[in-house]
Amino acid sequence: MKWDHVIRNGVLVTPQSLFEADIYIKDGKIAAISKERLEGEAKEETDATGKYVLPGLMDTHIHSRDPGPTHKEDFFTSTMAAAAGGITTVFEMPNTKRTINSAANFHAQVENLSSKAHVDFGLWAICLGKLNLHRLQELNEAGVIGFKFFWGYAINSETFELEYNYKPGMPNVIPPLHDGEVYLIFDEVAKTGKIFAIHAENNDLIQSLTQRVLESGRTDYNAFLEGRPPLAETVTVKTGISFARDTGARLHILHVSAGDSVDVIEQAQQEGLPITAETCPQYLFLNNEDYERVGPMMKIYPPIKYRADQERIWKGVQDGVLTVICSDHAPHTLEEKTGDLWSIPAGMVGVETMVPLLLNAVSEGKLTLQQVVALCSENPARQYGIYPQKGSLEIGTDADFTIVDMNKKVVIKRENLHSKSQNTGFDGVEVTGYPVATIVRGHVVMKDGEIVSSPIGQVVLSPSH
Ligand code: DOR
Ligand code: ZN
Repeated sequence: MKWDHVIRNGVLVTPQSLFEADIYIKDGKIAAISKERLEGEAKEETDATGKYVLPGLMDTHIHSRDPGPTHKEDFFTSTMAAAAGGITTVFEMPNTKRTINSAANFHAQVENLSSKAHVDFGLWAICLGKLNLHRLQELNEAGVIGFKFFWGYAINSETFELEYNYKPGMPNVIPPLHDGEVYLIFDEVAKTGKIFAIHAENNDLIQSLTQRVLESGRTDYNAFLEGRPPLAETVTVKTGISFARDTGARLHILHVSAGDSVDVIEQAQQEGLPITAETCPQYLFLNNEDYERVGPMMKIYPPIKYRADQERIWKGVQDGVLTVICSDHAPHTLEEKTGDLWSIPAGMVGVETMVPLLLNAVSEGKLTLQQVVALCSENPARQYGIYPQKGSLEIGTDADFTIVDMNKKVVIKRENLHSKSQNTGFDGVEVTGYPVATIVRGHVVMKDGEIVSSPIGQVVLSPSH
């Protein structure tokens, strides 16, 4: 048979163009794109009449807890949720119980995840300061997507998990690194040429301000925010930019949550520095005023901030300052998320709801489909060195597609999510526009909301130079 799979009658969307054509797939690759019908039989056909066909959308920031606290999530369920949400490639964060701090652990993780992956996946490496400075080059050569550093966080010295609620003097923790130690990481990652991604929160500021607000006796969301204000992010973003300017590191700011951070990033970009940044649906679609309605599911780090921050973040997306949207999928069980704001864990699930929420923003005229493709497919693929294999419609590249129906209306319900944890901040939200098929290297993984394939996902390696 000439073709393995043909996707017919859809409207293809790239950041640059929008056109009607059929896609012909052979051996997992795009073999032809044509408006005319090409000769030859197809083993499988997908009819995309009335739908849009996007290059596979990616989620470059998820935490699947595997290995680790797999009662919250594992890679089988997180990638099922990804496929259900129209995602064809995920990048798994390295704060797993066997953390990704060496090439050996990288290879063990590829082995662990491969049999469970419903979609393709890349792996982030973790930076732990002098504990693994000498291993960054081997991680680069192994093919990590980039290097992550949790700035301002303490890490458990036995399991290397993050200490979410660090207090000075806690046993078995590596306290947050000093700026000098962080500078040495920048310098070392710069030599790899790969992205250095920071979770930017200033621990000193947070400790002092949280202490002050706790002494006041207030327990509301705004009190929580006063303990972790926009400044706690922006001050670290500024330091990071200074270190990047000095070392040449390709700095990427993860989950931007503060308006002032967008200003600072924009200035650095105007200076010509290679700084990139991402934000997440929770910062685009929620602000502090939503806490009353949404409750503790809204607790994430860095926290969801004020309306002015939300507006500045939207402008940052429109102006191309924020180049990537991803979910920061962070599962915790509903029981774990019950309790007072200060002691419950931070994070919300998002890999399944990101694309629907962005499509709804398209329906509301806040974004275009072409922007969604740029933000969730082409830009991340380029940034992380896997373009055009991922993120393009070029002939010969991976046949990954997200097919969307812009007329489909769905009410997001926590009990319908495929994750083990249902800690979403978007329960009950109605969206117009929904992914109706997820295709990974030619395999249909999700069709009309159902997972229709066993795990066929493969690791995606970012080449070292
Ligand atoms: O809220 C968060 N939760 N922020 C992070 O950066 C980590 C994440 C998690 O792993 O739970
Ligand atoms: Zn994260």
